[in-house]
Amino acid sequence: MLVVTPNTCIDVTTWLPALVPGSVSRATRTEVTAGGKGVNVIRTLTALGRAPTLVGLSPVSDPRLGELLAAEGCDFLAVPQRGQARLALILLEEAGRVTVINGRGPEPAEWDRDAFLSAITAHVDAHGPAAVLCSGSLPPDVPLTLYGRVVVMAHERGIPAYVDAAPGVLGASLSSEPDLVSPNVGEAESLLHGRTDEHVEEEGDDLADRCVEASRELHSRGARRAVVTAGSHGAALTTQHGSWWVDAVRVDVVNPIGAGDSFLAGTAHALANGASDVDAVRFGMAVAAAAVQHERGGSLDASLVDGLLERLAPGVTA
Ligand SMILES: Nc1ncnc2c1ncn2[C@@H]1O[C@H](COP(=O)(O)OP(=O)(O)OP(=O)(O)O)[C@@H](O)[C@H]1O
Ligand SMILES: [Mg+2]
Repeated sequence: MLVVTPNTCIDVTTWLPALVPGSVSRATRTEVTAGGKGVNVIRTLTALGRAPTLVGLSPVSDPRLGELLAAEGCDFLAVPQRGQARLALILLEEAGRVTVINGRGPEPAEWDRDAFLSAITAHVDAHGPAAVLCSGSLPPDVPLTLYGRVVVMAHERGIPAYVDAAPGVLGASLSSEPDLVSPNVGEAESLLHGRTDEHVEEEGDDLADRCVEASRELHSRGARRAVVTAGSHGAALTTQHGSWWVDAVRVDVVNPIGAGDSFLAGTAHALANGASDVDAVRFGMAVAAAAVQHERGGSLDASLVDGLLERLAPGVTA
């Protein structure tokens, strides 16, 4: 599989007793890792036994990203960029609260969009991946249609293409009919109803109905399979054959960041293995439930997945 994430970054994860804005805090531990949503997708696909390739931007003057990815055994197709590496700051407090500050990516003048698309096309032509997964935000001031162009290119070659991206980019990709989209409910409602607040965890008695409604709308706008996820609550799916809701399985969460990325990877893995749409989504949910029990985003103990799948509710027709 080929994972497309132009906005790769270096994650600086800091553990601290409590974050007090406006004061100086002292870390108990800091870890530097490769980041960007696609890196989580890659970790999960690798844990599931696949050998995926990541295509992303990598600063010419800073080898750290390539080194960090190589240390994880990731096959990285690096497209050169000028300027600084993008950084993401992740602050984990003892009480469990998580704060994320995503750095701004490279400016348009610092990388060549056509070279990026050519690198993807050349890889697809040479390797014929089982699927192309477009994951994560785009660098600043890039046309929102970039992932849509990747989807069209993949479809011209008979290869399925999936998109999990910020609302604007997701919306601009729908007319290219991606084979799967998987926003969380906040992103989906932001796209469909102009909601701008972004909660890490959504609440409310009507959450399942909202997810189903949003997935129906995304499907009607072009997504062949439209999933809308709601963290520990579950996920909705709409295809041409109907709509379903699946309750999430209850687990002890260590790090919820990247659940959606692991979900995408797990679902893509199951679809490539020939699973039905609902079974693929349930598999993705079991994989995500294993991933949130792991400290590092996207990583998981794959031996947990079968047991989680057994505990997961069947899909309920909506
Ligand atoms: N705490 C949890 N317990 C069990 N399953 C979970 C939990 N959090 C997430 N999941 C599973 O993962 C799926 C995707 O999670 P979520 O909706 O949080 O994605 P997301 O917001 O895109 O995450 P991220 O952006 O951090 O990758 C959920 O539909 C659910 O099946
Ligand atoms: Mg997500």
